[in-house]
Amino acid sequence: MSSSPGAPIIQLQGLRKIYRVGKVDVEALRGVNLDVPAGEFLAVVGPSGSGKSTLFHIVGGLTPPTAGSVRVGGHDVAAMSDADRTKLRKSSVSFVFQKFNLLPTLTARDNILLAQHLAGKNHQGDARFQQVLELLGIAHRLDHKPAALSGGEQQRVAIARAIVNQPAILLADEPTGNLDSQNSGAVLEILRDLNERLGQTILMITHNPDAAAYGHRVVHMRDGLIVGS
Ligand SMILES: Nc1ncnc2c1ncn2[C@@H]1O[C@H](COP(=O)(O)OP(=O)(O)O)[C@@H](O)[C@H]1O
Ligand SMILES: [Mg+2]
Repeated sequence: MSSSPGAPIIQLQGLRKIYRVGKVDVEALRGVNLDVPAGEFLAVVGPSGSGKSTLFHIVGGLTPPTAGSVRVGGHDVAAMSDADRTKLRKSSVSFVFQKFNLLPTLTARDNILLAQHLAGKNHQGDARFQQVLELLGIAHRLDHKPAALSGGEQQRVAIARAIVNQPAILLADEPTGNLDSQNSGAVLEILRDLNERLGQTILMITHNPDAAAYGHRVVHMRDGLIVGS
C-alpha cells in the first residue's frame, strides 16, 4: 500500500461508533482522534468496555464507524469500494487476538500457509516464509497441530499467520491475555523484534503495564475517548 512520505499510516478523526442493542444505543467511541506514524509500536490501554476493540475493528475494516474518518495508508476507508475494503482487510491489516484462533485440524505449517493461500500466494519456500519462521522460533514445531503446542507456541503461529503476507499494520488485541508471564515475555519480545527488524507497524491492546512498556507510545482510553498519551 502506498502513502505519501511522512504521512501517518493511520489517521483517525472524530471517530464515533454507536451500537444499537435492541432499543438502546451504546456509544462505544465518542470522538477519537489518533495519528499513527508508519513503523510505530503503539500500545493502547484502558479499562474493559472503553472501546479499544471497537477501535481496532474499525481500523481493520471489520466494522464501519457511525461517524468520523478513517484513513489507512492515506486512503479513506469509507470511500473505498467493497472490493478495495476487502483487499485492505486481507492484505494491509492483520489481526492477532487473545484467543489464538488456529484451525485445530491443520498443522502449524498449514495454518500459516492457508493465510498465504487465501491471499493468493504460495510461498512455502520463499525467503519471507523462512524469515518469519526463524524470527518466531517455530520452524521446528511446524508439523504439530495446535493441541500439541504450548499457548506461547500457538500464539507465535498465530503471529506468523498474521504477518506472512506482509501487512502494513499488525493489530494485536490482548495478544498475551491467555499466556503465563514467561510466554507473554517471549511473545512481546517477538513483537518488538518484528517492529525493530522488519519495521512492522504494530498497535497492541493490553491490560498489562509491563506489556504496554514495550510500545514506543502508550495511549489511554476511557469511556470511548483517548484521554492521554
Ligand atoms: N458488537 C457489539 N454490539 C453491541 N455493543 C457492543 C459490541 N461490541 C462492543 N460493544 C459495547 O461497546 C463498548 C466498548 O466495547 P469494546 O470496544 O469491546 O471495549 P474494550 O475492548 O475496551 O473492552 C462496550 O460497552 C461494549 O459492551
Ligand atoms: Mg476488547
